[in-house]
Amino acid sequence: MKNFFIVPSILSANFANLGNEINSVIKYGADFIHFDVMDNCYVPNLTFGPVVLQSLKKNGIKFDTDVHLMMKMVDSIIPIFAKEKVKFITFHPESTLHIDKTISLIKSFGCKVGLAINPATSLDCLRYTLDKLDLVLIMSVNPGFGKQEFLTYVLKKIEKVRSLIDKNNYNTIIEVDGGIKKNNILDLLKAGANSFVIGSEIFCSKNYKSTILHIREIIYKHVY
Ligand code: DX5
Ligand code: ZN
Repeated sequence: MKNFFIVPSILSANFANLGNEINSVIKYGADFIHFDVMDNCYVPNLTFGPVVLQSLKKNGIKFDTDVHLMMKMVDSIIPIFAKEKVKFITFHPESTLHIDKTISLIKSFGCKVGLAINPATSLDCLRYTLDKLDLVLIMSVNPGFGKQEFLTYVLKKIEKVRSLIDKNNYNTIIEVDGGIKKNNILDLLKAGANSFVIGSEIFCSKNYKSTILHIREIIYKHVY
């Protein structure tokens, strides 16, 4: 049976208290921590680089990292993140000249590899890559910012990717990213997603524990 993952995005976390923010969501059952790396070139926003991850680890904050590279020319930064033993490195097909080479580069460091597909980008890029991917990241917002509205038209894309994965008997994770709330996650589950990047719904909530437990309960009820 597919596993189901809750993946808080730190983009909406309190950066003045980031270590404790991460510790608490991990304590309450988050599976991975989603690092939104933005370069103000591929997307109109600038966030953080490997130095934040290095500092968290140096201060004993332990978690598995799901790196989402929203930047141009990703090949040069992949080795730096890989050196930090991150679990996933996901990139957008538009951010490299050679998709296959970038997939091999990520895998050469022993990291799992994901391809991120923007809302209006077709699934064609999966035709020659799906068999190599550990994760497909389906963007349900246009990349660059948290707190955006979920774009419901991506539900059809999720269903399509789920049928491609199941038809080929792959174990590829379908991760969805952007605008995910308690009141729409069931639609994503029904469409076939099994990993959920959630930023503001968790980090802007008053109680991280009850938010995460509520989301876990929705997943559990759908599965059993
Ligand atoms: C947007 C990022 C998302 C975003 C999710 O470019 O890739 O990970 O931070 O945040 P929410 O859940 O607030 O939409
Ligand atoms: Zn993201």
